[in-house]
Amino acid sequence: SKETALSHLFFTYQQIPYPVTMCALETFKALDAFEARSDDIVLASYPKCGSNWILHIVRELLSVVSEKKYEYSEFPVLECGDSEKYQRMKLFPSPRIMTTHLHYDKLPGSIIKSKAKILVIFRNPKDTAVSFFHFHNDVPDIPSYGSWDDFFKHFMKGQVSWGSYFDFAINWNKHLDDANIKFILYEDLKENLATGIKQIAEFLGFCLTGEQIQAISAQSTFQAMQAKSQETHGAVGPFLFRKGEVGDWKNLFRETQSQEMDEKFKTCLAGTPLGTKLKY
Ligand code: A3P
Repeated sequence: SKETALSHLFFTYQQIPYPVTMCALETFKALDAFEARSDDIVLASYPKCGSNWILHIVRELLSVVSEKKYEYSEFPVLECGDSEKYQRMKLFPSPRIMTTHLHYDKLPGSIIKSKAKILVIFRNPKDTAVSFFHFHNDVPDIPSYGSWDDFFKHFMKGQVSWGSYFDFAINWNKHLDDANIKFILYEDLKENLATGIKQIAEFLGFCLTGEQIQAISAQSTFQAMQAKSQETHGAVGPFLFRKGEVGDWKNLFRETQSQEMDEKFKTCLAGTPLGTKLKY
């Protein structure tokens, strides 16, 4: 049965709320000593911005260039799981792929020092909020919010897992021009998947033919990934691939909420690389 007591959902670490169902204090402490490799591939995003999408794309690209199927038995979110995972990760062959929802300034120092390539995906905050709301309310094992209005208030205050979308964006925004960082937009990937995949391949230094890019593109559409979601992501699969559209926010946002978010967006991001490029 669904629980609605949200106070039991989070624990706070360095001012950011994290879900108790996925993160633990001991793991964060162990993460400080994480040893990055310069050929690690880090995929960063705020939750619900398309992390599973780019993870799939990067795995497919790597499978083609390395001619082997990339499968990790481990849930790859860097900061999630048990504290022994970093020991196990030492045994992973290079290049290791990991995803993270951490704000840039919360990344372990070795990742920053290593100059490992970091691919960041952003999605417009309105669709992100709607996707996050549905995720909470649909997945049986995590508490629901009472209503969309209730969730919206928490989202705007950053009282959700991994904290504020806006703080995350401000924090990453300062580094989007760094040489080892590339940022892409969910909306651009949706508009032209093959072009996006090609750009990701170029950033990672992978050389693929047009045909190979097209083949990966066909396997990376929402429909293709949704159809295989249970096979690839288990029971949570169908909830991770819910709708996959741009503009779904119009089905839930009230006019006042839309204005409030536009204002917040302007205050936080107007005139910045991200603020200029985000589309919604
Ligand atoms: P919706 O809830 O709007 O459908 P994450 O992987 O970061 O949790 O993000 C999940 C969101 O990305 C979901 O959004 C999901 O449907 C969408 N998504 C996943 N794969 C996709 C794909 N191949 N094409 C478009 N959207 C995709």
